Amino acid sequence: MKQLLYLSLAQQICKQIHSGVFTAGQRLPSVRVLAQQMNMSISTVLRAYQLVEDKGLIEARHKSGYYVSSDLITLQMQLEEQKPISPEWVTGSTLIVDLMANATKENFLQFSTAQPAEDIAANKEIKQNMLRILRDNHLILSINSELIGSLKLRQQLAYRLTRLGILASIENILITTGCQSAMMLCLKTFTRPGDVVAIATPAYYRILQLMEVLQLKVVEIPTHSFSGIDIPLLQKTLSEWSVKAVIVSPTVGNPLGESMSKESKQQLLTLIEEKNIPLIEDDAFADLSFEQPRPEPVKALDKKGMVWYCGTVSKTISPQLKVGWMVMGKHADRVIYQHSLMGITPPYLNQLTVAEYLSQDKYQKHIQHAILIYQQRYFQAVSLVKKHFPKNIKVSSPTGGFVLWIELPKHINATEIYFKAKQQGILITPGELFSVQTSQYKHCFRINFAQPWTEDRIKAMNWLGQYIERLDNQTIS
Ligand SMILES: Cc1ncc(COP(=O)(O)O)c(C=O)c1O
Repeated sequence: MKQLLYLSLAQQICKQIHSGVFTAGQRLPSVRVLAQQMNMSISTVLRAYQLVEDKGLIEARHKSGYYVSSDLITLQMQLEEQKPISPEWVTGSTLIVDLMANATKENFLQFSTAQPAEDIAANKEIKQNMLRILRDNHLILSINSELIGSLKLRQQLAYRLTRLGILASIENILITTGCQSAMMLCLKTFTRPGDVVAIATPAYYRILQLMEVLQLKVVEIPTHSFSGIDIPLLQKTLSEWSVKAVIVSPTVGNPLGESMSKESKQQLLTLIEEKNIPLIEDDAFADLSFEQPRPEPVKALDKKGMVWYCGTVSKTISPQLKVGWMVMGKHADRVIYQHSLMGITPPYLNQLTVAEYLSQDKYQKHIQHAILIYQQRYFQAVSLVKKHFPKNIKVSSPTGGFVLWIELPKHINATEIYFKAKQQGILITPGELFSVQTSQYKHCFRINFAQPWTEDRIKAMNWLGQYIERLDNQTIS
């Protein structure tokens, strides 16, 4: 618990710096004063300051205290210059196939797919639950679940969602094959080929693939790394184009890890209501928010059924179970009809296994432990970036989850780094996949920091840093 205290204080300090309460070069309250104010011990405050220092946000000055780093800008994402683009078709990238084909190979050091940590996975409990269900119900493998999913699972979810402020009836929850298929169902229901969908950019590339499959056009709305989707630009876009749906991850996005404030979530909802456009809320990473209790989803504010809330256990319990869900908005019957046409549901055994796990209330303990580990691994990741990478790069400051977005000087091609790193047995995710305009993030890449920082992973970061430095010097000279 003590450990959690210093981590949460460190997080609060980071938040204050990012939101401009403390600016570059400014002195922070002394350790003693902060300890008194927060009613914490000096060692807790000191540990929190040291963590924030490791992130590069503050620096200790001899006999003078802690100051906000004067080169803070290097750690902030500057996406403000971006403009929304007009709707574009998604033209598929064979790079995704290459990445996915290699993502499961054991001979690669895996920094690419957004897979949770293997060393803290709840595999043992999940296996025990599965075996118990199989033993107690020998017909389970011959039974299909209800059309909208296992009642037991929907009951458990309804209970859990209440704690997030979502008052969903069990008839309004639809069990899906992961979050991806929940979003697919929404898009299939609300759009026709050629329609335009607005999405926060950079966007998780598999959502862009959904648009490709459904032959939709995408209009990308810039996302700010600390405040989320640019609402004035979204407003402008919704006035200019006939947009049929908006997709956003308002809490712990992927790849930036950003979260919107409650006020911004309310503004987003108000806009959506004014324009009468469905909002597809992708909440895949939100339970792993470093801020606990985790922030409320937009769906918790939704009184008119405008939000289609999509969740999953892929980032928290296991990606293999393929269990996701949707809290439906208005005209739910249309989505259920679409669901009946597509006939894709996760295996009943998996649904019951998740229901059992949630009912034992082990989930919350597992999440708390995972968050603690991910925060530590995040700080280690940033220290490694600071140690090995050139100084002129920018790194995201995720509010949760386990992915880090790295922006290089514009002249460096991260796709080239992807291929070169692959030869070294290192797999990263090139930035060009996260946009329909492949050139937009060509100088960026994403890494997963969920796994423990073993010696070979540390060496991989060293190699990446040196290679980037070489590319940087080559282009300059
Ligand atoms: C932001 C985001 N949304 C949705 C998904 C898909 O989740 P699922 O595996 O439940 O389909 C992912 C998976 O990586 C993701 O990162």
